[in-house]
Amino acid sequence: MVININAVKSQAWTDKFKFSRNLIGFDEYLDKALFDSMNGYYLKDTSIKEDFITPSTLNSFYINSLIKFISNFKSENFIEIGIGDGQFSKKYVESSINQDIYLVDLSEKKLSQIKEVINQKNVHFSKKQPKLTKTSFCFLQEVLDCLPVRYFVYRDELVYEKKINLENFKIEEVLTEDDLIINYAWKLKLKSHANTFQFLDFSKQISFLKEVYENIEQGWVLIIDYGYRQKELVQSNQLVDNLLRAYKNHQQIQDFIKFTGDVDITYDLDFDILMESWVNFGGTVAYYGTLAEFLISKTNFLDSSDSLKNRYYLDSRLMGEAFKVTLLKK
Ligand SMILES: C[S@@+](CC[C@H](N)C(=O)[O-])C[C@H]1O[C@@H](n2cnc3c(N)ncnc32)[C@H](O)[C@@H]1O
Repeated sequence: MVININAVKSQAWTDKFKFSRNLIGFDEYLDKALFDSMNGYYLKDTSIKEDFITPSTLNSFYINSLIKFISNFKSENFIEIGIGDGQFSKKYVESSINQDIYLVDLSEKKLSQIKEVINQKNVHFSKKQPKLTKTSFCFLQEVLDCLPVRYFVYRDELVYEKKINLENFKIEEVLTEDDLIINYAWKLKLKSHANTFQFLDFSKQISFLKEVYENIEQGWVLIIDYGYRQKELVQSNQLVDNLLRAYKNHQQIQDFIKFTGDVDITYDLDFDILMESWVNFGGTVAYYGTLAEFLISKTNFLDSSDSLKNRYYLDSRLMGEAFKVTLLKK
């Protein structure tokens, strides 16, 4: 990763965030950059103008197709975690009857903006996942790809954690002795046969999913997010210098550290580890595929006549393959 030292210093972004020490892991960096209560990208109290495009922000036909798909499950509760600007939630609430709907987001600001336009007794808002009885359908789109992650590199049979030195703004690699990380690196190596590769640690995603599993009595969880199976993930990671991507005004920003707090930061997930973890908790995997495959085979998306907009969702160079879909069952 290239850091433009002068730009970073002149920005004085580190003063804003009050890091606990001089050598910080990427998990601490992302935790501040995205979730600091005063200055973090998602939580700061400025008017919300999204810098990212998610499948829901482009096309209402996509949202309607998903709602139709979800309604087939006839669950008693619907829960969306990480509602963002609420494009999906608003349409879902309009279309749903006889269901308790739970809208969850860490951001008070986002929740209160949605509360202003949704005023129905069956809709509940919270910052934390509620514990639900009966049958629930839970929807998570582009939420798992913004949880803070640690960043590693596997080289010559050793695993190093990448850290940011806040004294000289250089990236340092620190040998790790964390057995869980080393085992994960070996798994990726065995699947990909690569000798050197970068990877992220998805333990926060696993804990998050465990909470989802424990909070529903029974039902389904639909995850739509950037990511790959493990072998493809290592191959894809080898094509880029930096596994983290940042967006501002819908443009990808390369040297993003100087914009810390003002950019959305994301990355590709390991869908194998998400699905394996769910099975380890006791659940089953009902579906996995690319967004394009999912929309074609499981929804009425192709009935839409807007072929230009549909291209975004179906073209493998656009969202069609970059996004993956899994349906998990408890
Ligand atoms: C990239 S936006 C996606 C919004 C929406 N799901 C969509 O697809 O358009 C991520 C959202 O997840 C929320 N978020 C991040 N971490 C969360 C967590 N641990 N619990 C609840 N919401 C979270 C953020 O505040 C933000 O609104």
